[in-house]
Amino acid sequence: MPEKRLEIISSLLNKEDCLIDIGCDHAYVCIELAKKGADKILATDIHEKALKSAKKNIEKNGFQSIIDCQLSDGLEKINTEGFNTIVIAGMGTSTIKHILSDQKKLNSIQKIILQSNNDLSELRLFMKQIGYAIKKEYVVLEKKHYYTIILYQKGKQKLKKRELELGFYQENLQEYYQYLIKKYEIIRNKIPKKNRKKRYHLKQKIKWLQNWIQL
Ligand SMILES: C[S@@+](CC[C@H](N)C(=O)[O-])C[C@H]1O[C@@H](n2cnc3c(N)ncnc32)[C@H](O)[C@@H]1O
Repeated sequence: MPEKRLEIISSLLNKEDCLIDIGCDHAYVCIELAKKGADKILATDIHEKALKSAKKNIEKNGFQSIIDCQLSDGLEKINTEGFNTIVIAGMGTSTIKHILSDQKKLNSIQKIILQSNNDLSELRLFMKQIGYAIKKEYVVLEKKHYYTIILYQKGKQKLKKRELELGFYQENLQEYYQYLIKKYEIIRNKIPKKNRKKRYHLKQKIKWLQNWIQL
Protein backbone atom coordinates (compact mmCIF):
# COMPACT_ATOMS: atom_id res chain seq x y z
CA MET A 1 0.00 0.00 0.00
CA PRO A 2 1.72 3.21 -1.15
CA GLU A 3 0.09 5.69 1.24
CA LYS A 4 -0.73 5.76 4.97
CA ARG A 5 -4.04 7.43 4.08
CA LEU A 6 -5.08 4.44 1.99
CA GLU A 7 -3.76 2.04 4.62
CA ILE A 8 -6.15 3.52 7.20
CA ILE A 9 -9.07 3.35 4.78
CA SER A 10 -8.28 -0.31 4.07
CA SER A 11 -8.04 -1.08 7.80
CA LEU A 12 -11.65 0.12 8.20
CA LEU A 13 -12.91 -2.48 5.73
CA ASN A 14 -13.57 -6.13 6.43
CA LYS A 15 -14.49 -9.14 4.35
CA GLU A 16 -18.22 -8.78 4.98
CA ASP A 17 -18.18 -5.40 3.24
CA CYS A 18 -19.52 -5.38 -0.32
CA LEU A 19 -17.62 -2.35 -1.52
CA ILE A 20 -17.99 0.24 -4.25
CA ASP A 21 -14.80 2.30 -4.44
CA ILE A 22 -15.75 5.47 -6.34
CA GLY A 23 -12.77 7.16 -7.96
CA CYS A 24 -10.69 4.02 -7.40
CA ASP A 25 -7.74 5.16 -9.55
CA HIS A 26 -5.20 2.29 -9.15
CA ALA A 27 -7.71 0.16 -7.15
CA TYR A 28 -5.30 -0.23 -4.21
CA VAL A 29 -8.14 -0.21 -1.62
CA CYS A 30 -10.18 -2.78 -3.60
CA ILE A 31 -7.17 -5.10 -3.90
CA GLU A 32 -6.44 -4.90 -0.15
CA LEU A 33 -10.06 -5.79 0.59
CA ALA A 34 -9.96 -8.72 -1.86
CA LYS A 35 -6.84 -9.97 -0.05
CA LYS A 36 -8.92 -10.05 3.17
CA GLY A 37 -11.36 -12.44 1.52
CA ALA A 38 -14.21 -10.14 0.43
CA ASP A 39 -16.05 -11.46 -2.59
CA LYS A 40 -18.12 -8.56 -3.96
CA ILE A 41 -16.15 -5.47 -4.92
CA LEU A 42 -16.71 -2.83 -7.58
CA ALA A 43 -13.96 -0.44 -8.65
CA THR A 44 -15.30 2.62 -10.48
CA ASP A 45 -13.83 5.77 -11.94
CA ILE A 46 -14.91 8.57 -14.24
CA HIS A 47 -11.70 8.39 -16.27
CA GLU A 48 -10.87 5.56 -18.68
CA LYS A 49 -7.14 5.93 -17.95
CA ALA A 50 -7.63 5.43 -14.21
CA LEU A 51 -9.82 2.38 -14.78
CA LYS A 52 -7.21 0.91 -17.13
CA SER A 53 -4.63 1.21 -14.36
CA ALA A 54 -7.11 -0.36 -11.91
CA LYS A 55 -7.74 -3.31 -14.27
CA LYS A 56 -3.99 -3.84 -14.76
CA ASN A 57 -3.37 -3.97 -10.99
CA ILE A 58 -6.39 -6.19 -10.37
CA GLU A 59 -5.15 -8.65 -13.00
CA LYS A 60 -1.60 -8.52 -11.63
CA ASN A 61 -2.99 -9.59 -8.25
CA GLY A 62 -5.29 -12.23 -9.76
CA PHE A 63 -8.56 -10.74 -8.49
CA GLN A 64 -10.42 -10.37 -11.85
CA SER A 65 -13.19 -12.71 -10.67
CA ILE A 66 -13.74 -10.76 -7.44
CA ILE A 67 -13.31 -7.10 -8.39
CA ASP A 68 -15.49 -5.74 -11.20
CA CYS A 69 -14.64 -2.46 -12.91
CA GLN A 70 -17.09 0.12 -14.22
CA LEU A 71 -16.72 3.51 -15.84
CA SER A 72 -19.14 6.01 -14.27
CA ASP A 73 -19.54 9.54 -13.07
CA GLY A 74 -20.12 8.81 -9.38
CA LEU A 75 -23.07 6.45 -8.95
CA GLU A 76 -24.76 7.48 -12.21
CA LYS A 77 -24.34 4.14 -14.02
CA ILE A 78 -23.93 1.97 -10.92
CA ASN A 79 -26.52 -0.50 -9.66
CA THR A 80 -25.88 -0.31 -5.90
CA GLU A 81 -28.21 -3.24 -5.05
CA GLY A 82 -26.29 -5.87 -3.11
CA PHE A 83 -23.59 -3.44 -2.01
CA ASN A 84 -23.40 -2.13 1.57
CA THR A 85 -20.23 -0.01 1.63
CA ILE A 86 -18.86 2.97 -0.28
CA VAL A 87 -15.39 4.52 -0.24
CA ILE A 88 -14.72 7.94 -1.77
CA ALA A 89 -11.20 9.26 -1.22
CA GLY A 90 -8.92 11.93 -2.59
CA MET A 91 -11.65 14.26 -3.88
CA GLY A 92 -13.12 17.59 -2.83
CA THR A 93 -16.33 17.96 -0.82
CA SER A 94 -18.36 19.35 -3.74
CA THR A 95 -17.52 16.27 -5.87
CA ILE A 96 -18.37 13.95 -2.96
CA LYS A 97 -21.71 15.74 -2.48
CA HIS A 98 -22.43 15.41 -6.20
CA ILE A 99 -21.65 11.68 -6.07
CA LEU A 100 -23.88 11.02 -3.03
CA SER A 101 -26.71 13.30 -4.11
CA ASP A 102 -28.96 10.56 -5.56
CA GLN A 103 -30.15 9.14 -2.25
CA LYS A 104 -32.25 6.35 -3.81
CA LYS A 105 -28.92 4.77 -4.69
CA LEU A 106 -27.92 4.73 -1.01
CA ASN A 107 -30.77 2.50 0.25
CA SER A 108 -28.55 -0.53 0.82
CA ILE A 109 -25.45 1.41 1.86
CA GLN A 110 -24.78 1.09 5.60
CA LYS A 111 -21.17 2.23 5.75
CA ILE A 112 -19.44 5.11 3.95
CA ILE A 113 -15.76 6.02 4.29
CA LEU A 114 -14.84 9.49 3.06
CA GLN A 115 -11.57 11.33 2.69
CA SER A 116 -12.20 14.80 1.38
CA ASN A 117 -9.43 17.23 0.54
CA ASN A 118 -11.37 20.30 1.73
CA ASP A 119 -14.47 21.82 3.42
CA LEU A 120 -14.90 19.19 6.12
CA SER A 121 -17.57 21.14 8.00
CA GLU A 122 -19.71 21.31 4.84
CA LEU A 123 -19.17 17.58 4.35
CA ARG A 124 -20.18 16.74 7.96
CA LEU A 125 -23.36 18.81 7.60
CA PHE A 126 -24.26 17.16 4.28
CA MET A 127 -23.73 13.63 5.61
CA LYS A 128 -25.85 14.36 8.69
CA GLN A 129 -28.61 15.70 6.42
CA ILE A 130 -28.63 12.58 4.24
CA GLY A 131 -28.82 10.32 7.30
CA TYR A 132 -25.30 9.14 8.14
CA ALA A 133 -23.64 9.35 11.54
CA ILE A 134 -19.93 9.77 12.24
CA LYS A 135 -18.56 6.63 13.88
CA LYS A 136 -14.97 7.81 14.05
CA GLU A 137 -12.58 10.24 12.41
CA TYR A 138 -8.92 9.52 11.71
CA VAL A 139 -6.28 12.16 11.04
CA VAL A 140 -3.08 11.15 9.29
CA LEU A 141 0.02 13.24 8.57
CA GLU A 142 1.62 12.37 5.28
CA LYS A 143 4.20 14.37 3.31
CA LYS A 144 3.58 17.37 5.61
CA HIS A 145 -0.14 17.28 4.87
CA TYR A 146 -2.96 16.32 7.23
CA TYR A 147 -5.71 14.08 5.83
CA THR A 148 -8.99 13.38 7.62
CA ILE A 149 -10.77 10.09 7.01
CA ILE A 150 -14.34 9.87 8.26
CA LEU A 151 -16.07 6.57 8.92
CA TYR A 152 -19.87 6.86 8.62
CA GLN A 153 -22.65 4.48 9.58
CA LYS A 154 -26.25 4.86 8.42
CA GLY A 155 -28.22 6.58 11.20
CA LYS A 156 -29.22 9.85 12.79
CA GLN A 157 -26.85 11.97 14.87
CA LYS A 158 -26.98 15.28 16.67
CA LEU A 159 -23.89 17.38 16.16
CA LYS A 160 -22.97 20.57 18.01
CA LYS A 161 -21.68 23.50 15.94
CA ARG A 162 -18.18 22.77 17.23
CA GLU A 163 -18.42 19.13 16.14
CA LEU A 164 -19.63 20.10 12.68
CA GLU A 165 -16.67 22.44 12.31
CA LEU A 166 -13.91 20.34 13.87
CA GLY A 167 -15.17 16.81 14.46
CA PHE A 168 -15.24 15.16 17.89
CA TYR A 169 -12.49 15.90 20.40
CA GLN A 170 -9.75 13.27 20.40
CA GLU A 171 -7.00 13.27 22.96
CA ASN A 172 -4.38 11.94 20.52
CA LEU A 173 -4.79 14.87 18.09
CA GLN A 174 -2.98 17.58 20.08
CA GLU A 175 -0.39 18.24 17.35
CA TYR A 176 -3.10 18.49 14.73
CA TYR A 177 -5.03 21.00 16.88
CA GLN A 178 -1.84 23.09 17.31
CA TYR A 179 -1.39 23.03 13.54
CA LEU A 180 -5.01 24.13 12.96
CA ILE A 181 -4.70 27.01 15.44
CA LYS A 182 -1.63 28.33 13.59
CA LYS A 183 -3.32 27.90 10.21
CA TYR A 184 -6.51 29.69 11.27
CA GLU A 185 -4.55 32.51 12.90
CA ILE A 186 -2.63 33.11 9.68
CA ILE A 187 -5.86 33.11 7.65
CA ARG A 188 -7.61 35.38 10.14
CA ASN A 189 -4.78 37.91 10.08
CA LYS A 190 -5.15 38.21 6.32
CA ILE A 191 -8.88 38.97 6.47
CA PRO A 192 -9.67 42.72 6.43
CA LYS A 193 -11.07 44.00 9.77
CA LYS A 194 -14.33 45.06 8.10
CA ASN A 195 -15.12 41.42 7.33
CA ARG A 196 -16.19 40.85 10.91
CA LYS A 197 -18.31 37.72 10.37
CA LYS A 198 -15.49 35.74 8.78
CA ARG A 199 -13.00 36.90 11.41
CA TYR A 200 -15.38 36.00 14.24
CA HIS A 201 -16.01 32.55 12.76
CA LEU A 202 -12.28 31.82 12.72
CA LYS A 203 -11.81 33.29 16.20
CA GLN A 204 -14.44 30.93 17.52
CA LYS A 205 -12.77 27.92 15.92
CA ILE A 206 -9.41 28.98 17.40
CA LYS A 207 -11.03 29.32 20.83
CA TRP A 208 -12.57 25.82 20.67
CA LEU A 209 -9.21 24.37 19.64
CA GLN A 210 -7.40 26.22 22.43
CA ASN A 211 -9.84 24.75 24.95
CA TRP A 212 -9.18 21.29 23.57
CA ILE A 213 -5.44 21.78 23.93
CA GLN A 214 -5.86 22.74 27.58
CA LEU A 215 -7.94 19.65 28.38
C1 LIG B 1 -6.95 12.03 -6.53
S1 LIG B 1 -7.61 10.57 -7.20
C2 LIG B 1 -7.84 9.60 -5.73
C3 LIG B 1 -7.75 8.17 -6.03
C4 LIG B 1 -7.97 7.24 -4.82
N1 LIG B 1 -9.38 7.22 -4.45
C5 LIG B 1 -7.14 7.70 -3.66
O1 LIG B 1 -7.69 8.16 -2.65
O2 LIG B 1 -5.89 7.59 -3.75
C6 LIG B 1 -9.27 10.99 -7.62
C7 LIG B 1 -9.89 9.94 -8.53
O3 LIG B 1 -11.29 10.19 -8.58
C8 LIG B 1 -11.74 10.11 -9.92
N2 LIG B 1 -12.96 10.93 -10.01
C9 LIG B 1 -13.08 12.28 -9.96
N3 LIG B 1 -14.37 12.64 -10.05
C10 LIG B 1 -15.08 11.49 -10.15
C11 LIG B 1 -16.48 11.21 -10.30
N4 LIG B 1 -17.39 12.19 -10.36
N5 LIG B 1 -16.86 9.92 -10.36
C12 LIG B 1 -15.95 8.91 -10.31
N6 LIG B 1 -14.63 9.13 -10.19
C13 LIG B 1 -14.20 10.39 -10.11
C14 LIG B 1 -10.55 10.61 -10.74
O4 LIG B 1 -10.59 10.16 -12.06
C15 LIG B 1 -9.36 10.02 -9.95
O5 LIG B 1 -9.02 8.74 -10.40
